[in-house]
Amino acid sequence: MAHYQPQDRYFKQARAQGLPSRAAFKLSELLQRYHLPGPRARVLDLGCAPGGWLAVLGRMAGDETRIVGVDLVPCPAMSPKATVLTGDVADPKVRRAARDLLGAHADLIVSDMAPKLSGIRARDEARCEELLELSLRVAAEMLKPGGAMIAKAFMSGGFTQILGSFRARFRKVDVVHTAATRPGSRELYLVARGFRPAAVDGTGKDCQG
Ligand SMILES: C[S@@+](CC[C@H](N)C(=O)[O-])C[C@H]1O[C@@H](n2cnc3c(N)ncnc32)[C@H](O)[C@@H]1O
Repeated sequence: MAHYQPQDRYFKQARAQGLPSRAAFKLSELLQRYHLPGPRARVLDLGCAPGGWLAVLGRMAGDETRIVGVDLVPCPAMSPKATVLTGDVADPKVRRAARDLLGAHADLIVSDMAPKLSGIRARDEARCEELLELSLRVAAEMLKPGGAMIAKAFMSGGFTQILGSFRARFRKVDVVHTAATRPGSRELYLVARGFRPAAVDGTGKDCQG
């Protein structure tokens, strides 16, 4: 297995570029690869602190882009195009406030939400899965038809089932490892495009009422 280096080249690049986290390079790579977001996009960033993804979105987005970040802990906006809310994404009031700030359904939702790790593997995996499911519920409420989503995931026992839930909601879902992910990490990203407001089953038919 590759050797873990806490101060690897991404850590040093983040420092040099004034970015608060190496996570910024992961999003930057995915946005470039998938040509996201569009020039006038409304973007929702779930789990935005300490602000690495907000900084990247602010740099890569067009002048008319509106970005709203949400996190449990306070976080600087990092860009004049961004506004940040402090709160729990699971709280409907927080989601309503985010929707009001966006002014319309989002074109792109990104989620890097992660729990505070307990060190108990089963508990940490279950919490990561819950956050991924929460991000999909937020998409169902706040993403516009045809919209895109990038969500952090971990290869865990429930991953295949959650991937199926994403595939029911999006026309195309890619499972992607980024170059900036630490060697040996089980972290990966779901890049989902073509959001469908009504879920479909494996045959492509609607499976909601
Ligand atoms: C890995 S950090 C995000 C890093 C960020 N994308 C960046 O580039 O700086 C994960 C964040 O998810 C947040 N988080 C976890 N659960 C959350 C929830 N239910 N609502 C809002 N934020 C949450 C944590 O507070 C933490 O700041």
